[in-house]
Amino acid sequence: MTANVLVAYGSTNGSTAEIAEAVAAVLRKQGCTAEALPASAVVRLTDYDAAVVGGGLYAGRWHKDARRFLRRHRAELDDRPLWLFSSGPLDPSASERDIPPVPGVRRAMTRLDARQHVTFGGCLREGAKGRVAKMILRSGKGGDFRDFDHIEEWAAGIAAELNHG
Ligand SMILES: Cc1cc2nc3c(=O)[nH]c(=O)nc-3n(C[C@H](O)[C@H](O)[C@H](O)COP(=O)(O)O)c2cc1C
Repeated sequence: MTANVLVAYGSTNGSTAEIAEAVAAVLRKQGCTAEALPASAVVRLTDYDAAVVGGGLYAGRWHKDARRFLRRHRAELDDRPLWLFSSGPLDPSASERDIPPVPGVRRAMTRLDARQHVTFGGCLREGAKGRVAKMILRSGKGGDFRDFDHIEEWAAGIAAELNHG
């Protein structure tokens, strides 16, 4: 039986959404059914066998849509294999070492018995919303630090667990 996987994301400027799309694409390539959706748009998990939830990091916290998603769907997530990811650091650190989850995500992992969490590099491009985002860009500290090889490798690991576990 092929697993139907939801990849839900909280994203303000779109870069976490693109990571979620890349994860869903790998899952499909590896034989799962998968779709990436904004966390705020998901009504119920009835149709899904497993979930991957990702959020951009803002001021040391996971994106609010991702946090709300875990709260709202807590009971359904309890019954399904769950993987979490964060996307944030605007430097190469996430490609060089494991960056632990922020405290709220760490607590959610324990509460929901999530299988794994990973932090991917973030991305901040011209046109990003908000005063602080514009300040970061003006100071030259923006850029795209997402490592799609790392993202695809992680997603392939999820597919392997779902296909064989
Ligand atoms: C106002 C603001 C605050 C941020 N705070 C953090 C942070 O606390 N930790 C971190 O690793 N990255 C932080 N970042 C970087 C974002 O997490 C990164 O740009 C991420 O890719 C955004 O995801 P999105 O495009 O899906 O919204 C921040 C960016 C902005 C604009």
